[in-house]
Amino acid sequence: MTKLLRAESPEDIRTAGAILREGGLVAIPTETVYGLAADALNPGAVRRIFETKGRPADNPLIVHIASGEELSALVTEIPETAVRLMEAFWPGPLTLILKKSDTVPSIVSGGLDTVAVRLPANETARAVIRAAGRPLAAPSANLSGRPSPTEFRHIRQDLWGKAEAIMDGGRCTVGVESTVLSLTGDVPTILRPGGVTKARLETVVGFVAVSPAVSEKPKEDFRPLSPGMKYTHYSPRASVTVVDASPAEYQEYVNAAGDCHALCFDEDLPFLTVNALSYGTRYDGASQAQSLFSALLRLDEAGAEKVLAHIPSKNGIGLAVYNRLIRSAGFQTVNPQGHHIIGLTGGSGAGKTTVSETFQELGCAVVDCDKLTREPDVYDEECLRELAYAFGEDILEDGVLNRRKLAGVALPTEQGRQKLGEITFPRILRRVLERINAEKLRGKRLIVIDAPTLFESGFDRYCSRIVAVTAGKETRLRRILSRDGLTREEAEKRLRAQHDDSFFVSRADHVINGEGGYDLRKRLLPIVRGLTEKTGETGRTEA
Ligand code: TXA
Ligand code: MG
Repeated sequence: MTKLLRAESPEDIRTAGAILREGGLVAIPTETVYGLAADALNPGAVRRIFETKGRPADNPLIVHIASGEELSALVTEIPETAVRLMEAFWPGPLTLILKKSDTVPSIVSGGLDTVAVRLPANETARAVIRAAGRPLAAPSANLSGRPSPTEFRHIRQDLWGKAEAIMDGGRCTVGVESTVLSLTGDVPTILRPGGVTKARLETVVGFVAVSPAVSEKPKEDFRPLSPGMKYTHYSPRASVTVVDASPAEYQEYVNAAGDCHALCFDEDLPFLTVNALSYGTRYDGASQAQSLFSALLRLDEAGAEKVLAHIPSKNGIGLAVYNRLIRSAGFQTVNPQGHHIIGLTGGSGAGKTTVSETFQELGCAVVDCDKLTREPDVYDEECLRELAYAFGEDILEDGVLNRRKLAGVALPTEQGRQKLGEITFPRILRRVLERINAEKLRGKRLIVIDAPTLFESGFDRYCSRIVAVTAGKETRLRRILSRDGLTREEAEKRLRAQHDDSFFVSRADHVINGEGGYDLRKRLLPIVRGLTEKTGETGRTEA
């Protein structure tokens, strides 16, 4: 009989502790995903985890502790880097791989001489560890190969009748498993991306490497550092394909496919005509992390057979989302159009032009939106009349638009900029799309749209990747002062009216430092290579 326990009940926490001490299995909530816990120091109990999940014996488990002091008994030494990481990220979704001591049974470490240890942030998880009075081995509480459970109903489906108890702790807040970081080599290396991002780790320990197994399909003879990386993972019953395309192309592709379920972003929903389930918003990796597993399992509940998933960004926590999604798809990816449209954006003076020129040198086509708006006939009769109605007849001289005057009245206020955008963006977009088509006909597979107002204009809907250029405020001021002939006050005012770097960074797949002083080609080449490799001849590829 499986007992149902509640996280809020102190008595239920004690019951969980007692079951674990006796060698039983209890599914418990953590901040990442639900875990299937057993006494880590009892080989018989740990064996039952492997049997219950159907988990390969060489895939080691994470040992969970309730306080930092419990670590020393489990490992032979605690390096200085580990101490700094523990101070910064424990309790939390970071698992450290260290040399194991003899206290840890070899069944836990899958025969390796290292052990994975984590101090969860979830209060209930720590309370259960304390109640058990020993460290707990706990893999994600799914049957091996299935998506990890982040909601109680899903562990009930997998573990009813198999574990001694399952505990309801509500929805997991992070939604993807912990970051697994190896500290046994020369450089700290991410074996599995998770709740703590590479960038955050680097603020504490400097450069952090990422195992190639994170984003790529393992080769046949591949022996990853983290054994878990070689097995089928996170698979729903449906066949999942990751669609690597802009929102506009994704929506078109999915609608044309018809007989499928879309696993998409909130922004896609209004445009889709098939059954669709959102797993977050496009630029919010944390929302995607939180919902991905539960969405995959809900697609199973809905009886989905064929799922077309919209590719997430690999930036920040997005890397963890991508890592899970690509595995749930068995690495099946499609780039339906065989090309990529890169949205290039950033504030004034950040260095966008230099970046777009370098992209061009590397063989990409560039569509410069600022230049397009200055083409003589971009605004038709009707558009000019709308502009004159909105901003006054003065902006026209003998029927010809005086751009300086228009800028003078429209740009200083938020309301004016918005109105100007409403009137002009659709016209510019039409031009941009014409130019993109022309470049495609010329055989270009990477097309950069250089657009300072990429997001306000909605052109980001046509981009499959976003590249943001950032530079410090002083650099930007210096550049626009010498370039645009403004007073310092005017220049500062202009910068204040623009988004700050964090706005661009949080939406970007790649962030380019626009300060200069280094080889930009070297920085952009891997991006260009990565995208051209993936578009292939037919557009159908494996990531
Ligand atoms: O967030 C999490 O980490 C969740 C919750 C329940 O704490 N647990 C979890 O455990 O995801 P599991 O067993 O599903 O994944 C553990 C991962 C596997 O990829 C495994 O191969 C790797 O950690 N791992 C464990 N011990 C290792 C070791 N000594 N060396 C390298 N990788 C190891
Ligand atoms: Mg797992």
